[in-house]
Amino acid sequence: MVVVTSPTLIILSLLLIILLLLSVSATDPPPPLPPPAEPTAVCIVGAGIGGSSLAHFLRLYSSPDHADFRIRIFERNGFVGGRMATVNVSGDIFEAGASILHPKNFYALEYTKLLNLTIKEPSSSSSSSPSLGIWDGKKFVFKTLGFDSDLPFVQKLVSLANSVLTVLRYGFSLLKMESFVQSTVAKFLRYYESRESRPIFESVEEMLKWAGLYNLTTTTLGLKLADIRLSPLLIEELVTVITRINYGQSVAISGLAGAVSLAGADGGLWSIKGGNWQMASGLIDHSNVALHLHEEIESISSIGKYYELNSTNGKSYKCEVAVVATPLDEVSIRFTPLVSIPKRSLQHTHATFVRGLLNPEYFGLDAVSKIPELVGTIEDPDLPFSSISVLKRHDEKDMTYKIFSRKPLDDDVLDTIFSFRAETIRINWGAYPHYNAPEEFAPFILDGRHLYYVNAFENAASTMETSAVSAENIARLILSRFFGQPPFSSSNLESHSDSGTLRADL
Ligand SMILES: Cc1cc2nc3c(=O)[nH]c(=O)nc-3n(C[C@H](O)[C@H](O)[C@H](O)COP(=O)(O)OP(=O)(O)OC[C@H]3O[C@@H](n4cnc5c(N)ncnc54)[C@H](O)[C@@H]3O)c2cc1C
Ligand SMILES: *[C@@H]1O[C@H](CO)[C@@H](O)[C@H](O)[C@H]1NC(C)=O
Ligand SMILES: *[C@@H]1O[C@H](CO)[C@@H](O)[C@H](O)[C@H]1NC(C)=O
Ligand SMILES: *[C@@H]1O[C@H](CO)[C@@H](O)[C@H](O)[C@H]1NC(C)=O
Ligand SMILES: *[C@@H]1O[C@H](CO)[C@@H](O)[C@H](O)[C@H]1NC(C)=O
Repeated sequence: MVVVTSPTLIILSLLLIILLLLSVSATDPPPPLPPPAEPTAVCIVGAGIGGSSLAHFLRLYSSPDHADFRIRIFERNGFVGGRMATVNVSGDIFEAGASILHPKNFYALEYTKLLNLTIKEPSSSSSSSPSLGIWDGKKFVFKTLGFDSDLPFVQKLVSLANSVLTVLRYGFSLLKMESFVQSTVAKFLRYYESRESRPIFESVEEMLKWAGLYNLTTTTLGLKLADIRLSPLLIEELVTVITRINYGQSVAISGLAGAVSLAGADGGLWSIKGGNWQMASGLIDHSNVALHLHEEIESISSIGKYYELNSTNGKSYKCEVAVVATPLDEVSIRFTPLVSIPKRSLQHTHATFVRGLLNPEYFGLDAVSKIPELVGTIEDPDLPFSSISVLKRHDEKDMTYKIFSRKPLDDDVLDTIFSFRAETIRINWGAYPHYNAPEEFAPFILDGRHLYYVNAFENAASTMETSAVSAENIARLILSRFFGQPPFSSSNLESHSDSGTLRADL
């Protein structure tokens, strides 16, 4: 631990020396000032919502007497945001990765206010009430009505008719599903309780148990929903459609990832106008961060008091605290000494953007207008895609679509689904964990010292908000474990701790 010398301290001691010199006519030369110490460095690997949130909460929560630390963020790309990214399809900008936020994503809402960003309702870009169809490879087993109208009366009628259609097929199981999602969301809200009453969690398991969410990670969504007596048809169709859209996986994902995924089909969803990635860029701009773009970290070595982070550009950085804010599953960072985390594979989601027109014949229909605006699919290995949705309707014969699939869609397959394509853009995302039940979690503290892992929480669920919630906890872990800041201290309170409480083990 380096002695932290704040500029005010230096100025005060200078003043004191000058005063002493003035009062006592100096015969002895003043004692030499110690050379200014290098501030402590917290180094973060990854400039997604996790890394940027961590920088934000470190600055927000640090008390004035430990505020003098440096934050470095390393990002291998030339831009920030990670899995929050946009795509330009013939001049129109769409979310390519993380697209929707929930009305109870409170950190995202806080960021939006803090950073003066503008909220946008995603559905406003296509029609006011998009229709849904569930495709089984041969026919639509279920279809709702869509109606493009700005008249509230028409919207209400269509949504009422859709509720009736949905209840007719799935029965009152829908209410049980709704209450399962609501109760899970309510438990998650405990993570926004005040910092005075909320513990700092040293592991993902502890964090989930405290909120009453852990048990949901020990069973699959399918079993959990069967347990609360949801109809098998609802699980096979509507629930499967939603988990395939949100996590590219079946109802074999954990109950918790499943509940989060179902919450992603709630009403009131929103996104940020111009792109969700602006949360990351804004947080970094507001948090006094040294941002190193185009710097991929290839090794993290513990050498006594420091971690040494080496980048592929041949540069080397000494940091007292090091944080991994990216999934470790597909990156090749060499750790010395080795760290051990449970094996986990990422689910790859292929996002294909097409400007063109779907072929109604593929769906056994005689007109494009009869194809629902959101086509979901059931679990069948022969189906080439998980979902197709209309992003923008340029006119009746010209639209922009987003397709999610587990495998890349080659031109031959696309040519059967589309009658024409003016532009096609393919993105292969290492998207989120491939979920299992019971789920195994990597540690937040990778080496028992000051090497942290924000994305350990992704095995609970992977969303922009859960990354922020995990980063908030890691910020508190760092402030208490490294800087010795007591759990409740806040930058607005009187400062009370001093170097006596600093940990001496680095
Ligand atoms: C197709 C898709 C749809 C999704 N939909 C939603 C949604 O609708 N709503 C939602 O909330 N979430 C959604 N998600 C999930 C969401 O994107 C993630 O949970 C979240 O963005 C993760 O943020 P992160 O900061 O933890 O990781 P990332 O965003 O992955 O950030 C990690 C960063 O680290 C960088 N990096 C990696 N290795 C190194 C290295 N060695 N050195 C330097 N830099 C490195 C990467 O380039 C990246 O920028 C979706 C994800 C995908 C892929
Ligand atoms: C999108 O791409 C087009 C070229 O197809 C380009 O002219 C336009 O400037 C791009 N828009 C943005 C916002 O990057
Ligand atoms: C916030 O944004 C609005 C419009 O985008 C702008 O007029 C206003 O000046 C901004 N305020 C701040 C504090 O940046
Ligand atoms: C979780 O499961 C354990 C063991 O089955 C049980 O004792 C506990 O009460 C459960 N917790 C919750 C919150 O349901
Ligand atoms: C990191 O870089 C430093 C300085 O170039 C070098 O001495 C050290 O061996 C490197 N560490 C690793 C693990 O490559």
